[in-house]
Amino acid sequence: MNQINSYITQHQDRFIEELTALLRLPSVSADSAFSQDVLDTAEAFAAALREAGCDTVEICDTQGYPIILGEKEVDPSLPTVLVYGHYDVQPPDPLDLWDSPPFEPEIRKTELHPDGAIYARGASDDKGQVFMHIKALEFMVRHDALPCNVKFMIEGEEEVGSTSLSAFVKENRERLSNDIILISDTGLIAKDVPSVTTGLRGLSYVEVTVTGPNRDLHSGLYGGAVANPINILARMIASLHDENNRVTIPGFYDKVEELSREERDLMAEAPFDLEAYKKELDIDAVYGEKGYVTNERNAIRPTLDVNGIWGGYTGEGAKTVIPSQAHAKISMRLVPHQDTDEITELFSAHFQNLAPEGVRVEVHPHHGGQAYVTPIDSIGYQAASKAYETTFGRESIPHRGGGSIPIVPLFENELGSKTILMGFGLNSDAIHSPNEHFGVWNFLKGIETIPYFYQYYAELSGK
Ligand code: BES
Ligand code: MN
Ligand code: MN
Repeated sequence: MNQINSYITQHQDRFIEELTALLRLPSVSADSAFSQDVLDTAEAFAAALREAGCDTVEICDTQGYPIILGEKEVDPSLPTVLVYGHYDVQPPDPLDLWDSPPFEPEIRKTELHPDGAIYARGASDDKGQVFMHIKALEFMVRHDALPCNVKFMIEGEEEVGSTSLSAFVKENRERLSNDIILISDTGLIAKDVPSVTTGLRGLSYVEVTVTGPNRDLHSGLYGGAVANPINILARMIASLHDENNRVTIPGFYDKVEELSREERDLMAEAPFDLEAYKKELDIDAVYGEKGYVTNERNAIRPTLDVNGIWGGYTGEGAKTVIPSQAHAKISMRLVPHQDTDEITELFSAHFQNLAPEGVRVEVHPHHGGQAYVTPIDSIGYQAASKAYETTFGRESIPHRGGGSIPIVPLFENELGSKTILMGFGLNSDAIHSPNEHFGVWNFLKGIETIPYFYQYYAELSGK
């Protein structure tokens, strides 16, 4: 295993070049204008898996975008690791806020990344992190140092709710059977603080429409005499939080997992610099639910946020108009024991109730998912922790991630296996934002660390 460092030194330029080629493909799953690019990206990842030494690679067609399965069997008596990731990316807009075009990867040095960071949509979420696994496989295959069987499953619809994958998993239980699932689609606590992500939040996502009069009206002739849907929507949304920034939907907190004081104290031991956090975001204060600190608010507490709001006239100049409709997209991040369907129901009922006479309200649910927690006394967790400790040279700390990967709880239900979230990204990678990037150091650290996971997992499993 000590050959991994020299292998990386020798091949790092090629690794970066190959990743750059994958990042040039605009695999935006949310926008059908990119559908051919998404399909091309599936081909490119399949080729990369073949190149890295998988015995079989199949591009499995679905109702949506294909799922790539790659397999490398070493010996049926060894444990099997299933690596999951996604080759689709978020839409890149707003384009004018990028310093270099999102699909023309550029390496730039920053204070945090003196070795450079690769700027491109998908660099960190998740192409760059998937590619670490492919290059780690390449190393292990070429050095005859693969102590487990491996299955890769890379999908193209993660950013739009993994619809096809849910069905695929249910129909292919046998083929996907494994001992442990390994995912790099989350982040570290900090560049020098290795950390297995032990939890993900769930998600409930709704779109709401408030309809008033049957057409846009002159705001002088009708203003003050009919309900303005935007005024009403703004008031309804404002009422969804109270003065302590708690969500006011009745029943919203009923099933929320309350962490013990000990657990919260343990969380507080993770290094966190509030001043640096504020400075990075250019804000003079943080904000959130009373009684909780920032790292609790963004990980173990449920939230409600408006993601977009529109209606009326937003073009140049002024137009005096009362709009017929107002719209908003609202996400709720959920924590263990809250059920996504139940929360969506609670939201809908409450939101309908909030509407005054004179408007109609529609609530349209989008995709969602359950929260996830993984135990820290499992051999999978220990293998990941030990792998991090080996290559970072310092203790690994468990932490909960604030984001969601809804397919993870489904894996556990359908395949019966736990997931280990061993990420190498950073919060500052700007995933989903303009100027997404992935540190070259982080990318290479991932390639270095992953083979140790396999080694320790095989050792600990005693197979
Ligand atoms: N990789 C992210 C999730 C993530 C990032 C979890 C960092 C923890 C830390 C994933 O690609 C993602 O963006 N998920 C979506 C949910 C999905 C249903 C669109 C999310 O969290 O918004
Ligand atoms: Mn992701
Ligand atoms: Mn994402």
